[in-house]
Amino acid sequence: MTDFDGRTVLVTGATGGIGGTTVRQLVAAGADVIATGRSVEGLEALSAETGARTLAFDLTSEDSVRSALEGLDLWGVVNCGGFGGEIATPMETDIAVFDKVISINARGALLVTKYASASMIRLGQGGAIVNVSSQASLVALSGHISYGSSKAALDNITRVSALELGRYGIRVNSVNPTVVMTEMSAFYWGRPEIQGPFLEQMPLGRWATEDEIAAPIVFLLSDGASMISGVSLPIDGGYTAR
Ligand SMILES: NC(=O)c1ccc[n+]([C@@H]2O[C@H](COP(=O)([O-])OP(=O)(O)OC[C@H]3O[C@@H](n4cnc5c(N)ncnc54)[C@H](OP(=O)(O)O)[C@@H]3O)[C@@H](O)[C@H]2O)c1
Repeated sequence: MTDFDGRTVLVTGATGGIGGTTVRQLVAAGADVIATGRSVEGLEALSAETGARTLAFDLTSEDSVRSALEGLDLWGVVNCGGFGGEIATPMETDIAVFDKVISINARGALLVTKYASASMIRLGQGGAIVNVSSQASLVALSGHISYGSSKAALDNITRVSALELGRYGIRVNSVNPTVVMTEMSAFYWGRPEIQGPFLEQMPLGRWATEDEIAAPIVFLLSDGASMISGVSLPIDGGYTAR
């Protein structure tokens, strides 16, 4: 018997780079996975590859989240759906973009937590939630006013949810990754003038892979992390430890 036998874990952002790899690692670990996102085509491809169940919904709509999650018997959740928004300073930010970033990264994760935790409490078997945050919530990063604020809000959702759900045996943690060269990040971090100076400041001096983010997510979901709740775990090659 492995940690994940008979445990259903819902993963948002499963049609993206980090979410898709997390689904693959969870299926390999024996979990019953519900892969979610908006793109039905993307979900179908992932399901054909991994056998994961799928569910399409929009994180910005409470009705959409509620009707998708109602009636599911969940043990765990990975809140991985996210949006990068814009690279802008507080002086030049487009506040409509700020609203959209907050709506997906923070509000969307809270909505999923709201309806998923109701299912987890009803099931009465404890459980675990991992929120995919960012290094941008831990330190000030140039141009990251919207994104960093949304992930700082997500870290607070992690801490308060850990506090409120602990009595049901449900653990809640964040992972705070550095850059993975997915579509979301390449347009900015891929530029030599941005990449070079940043990596010089990082002890490990390279970007992360999807597998290097998914593995700590799976660990935090597993019974190996049974006494860990409320943390924000940097996966950043030591960048925020300087
Ligand atoms: N890549 C990085 O460098 C990096 C670093 C640190 C943290 N992160 C975080 O890691 C997570 C995954 O990032 P990624 O790079 O794998 O991103 P990605 O490849 O761009 O994927 C983003 C995912 O979010 C989903 N999504 C976006 N808006 C949505 C909405 N309104 N409703 C439902 N789903 C929505 C997308 O689904 P559809 O396409 O199906 O709509 C997609 O599955 C994000 O939370 C991101 O902030 C990424």
